[in-house]
Amino acid sequence: MRAVVCPEFGPLDALVAADLPDPAAGEGQVVVDVRAAGVNFVDGLICQGRYQLKPETPFVPGSEVAGVVSAVGPGVAGVTTGDRVLVFCGLGGFAEQVVVPALSLVPLPEGLGFEPAAALVQSYCTMLFTLTRRTHVAPGEWVLVLGAGGGIGLAAVDVATALGGRVIAAASTAAKLAAARARGAEATIAYEAEDLKTRARELSGGGVDVVVDPVGGRHSEPALRATRHLGRFCVLGFAAGPIPTVPLNQVLLNNRTVVGVDWGGWTFQDPAGNRTLIAELLDMVADHRLHPTAPAVHPLGDAAAVMAGLLDRTVAGKSVLVP
Ligand SMILES: NC(=O)c1ccc[n+]([C@@H]2O[C@H](COP(=O)([O-])OP(=O)(O)OC[C@H]3O[C@@H](n4cnc5c(N)ncnc54)[C@H](OP(=O)(O)O)[C@@H]3O)[C@@H](O)[C@H]2O)c1
Repeated sequence: MRAVVCPEFGPLDALVAADLPDPAAGEGQVVVDVRAAGVNFVDGLICQGRYQLKPETPFVPGSEVAGVVSAVGPGVAGVTTGDRVLVFCGLGGFAEQVVVPALSLVPLPEGLGFEPAAALVQSYCTMLFTLTRRTHVAPGEWVLVLGAGGGIGLAAVDVATALGGRVIAAASTAAKLAAARARGAEATIAYEAEDLKTRARELSGGGVDVVVDPVGGRHSEPALRATRHLGRFCVLGFAAGPIPTVPLNQVLLNNRTVVGVDWGGWTFQDPAGNRTLIAELLDMVADHRLHPTAPAVHPLGDAAAVMAGLLDRTVAGKSVLVP
């Protein structure tokens, strides 16, 4: 099978396309023919050796796929070849086939195509987990989303809007702000040009209730300062690079709460809870409470270029690779 291989941690242009032996399903496993593989910011970090997960090299990157079961290993019940499935595989997704535990399969609902499905799980599960499990958004509350034109950011806008929140989207370019508006944001802040704290307070009439921060760097502290009484500041990631340090008096003031979010870690702690979360997500997509837009589609060979576009900030929204 064709696959994208990361031979060793380093620059993304060192990734190679290779022919690997077709995989076989062992005990409790299935082989999935990949029809689309979602590309995420973390995939690029993993290939560069800049993520907490450091697989042995060489490895095939790619953390989420949608496809069709093509082989079922011994000891697997309730799965047959031809099943359309969604899998969060962690690694191995940028290939024509991937072997995964049968227990990790999620049936793909009728009406949900492979490409949108492959772009859905990581960003939308993270945001549904953030805004319904780690904190709650009440109807009418103001939600400030940083990096709002990225994968996590657009999912945050969509989920917050579905919960009745009023969203202020903050991003670096007009195109990213337009994408966030199209997804439901009521107001926008061009945070490289405008004063984030002042504008967020003005737009929300005094302060926001929730901040979603997958960016970190210099924008975190003004966003925290923009929260009103009982505000919640959700820490999701540090796409900008530097992990910010903030004065703790800003948490004490206004009785604010800082909320850590690690969806991936939680899936191992509470797999049953995660299955419920995914079912909830698919229901919300099926009945049009959520509106994930179609991802950009690229051939498998574009893996390095697409990951580079995420890491250098030039790509908006989600992308998938199609083998
Ligand atoms: N906590 C969790 O459970 C969880 C789960 C999934 C992902 N994450 C994390 O969430 C973060 C965002 O992931 P994503 O998939 O949304 O990525 P993405 O699609 O690439 O979006 C990230 C956004 O960050 C902003 N950004 C600001 N400075 C940047 C810089 N120097 N380099 C790159 N981006 C920069 C960009 O928006 P502007 O150009 O508008 O500033 C970009 O659109 C990552 O750090 C990822 O590890 C966390």
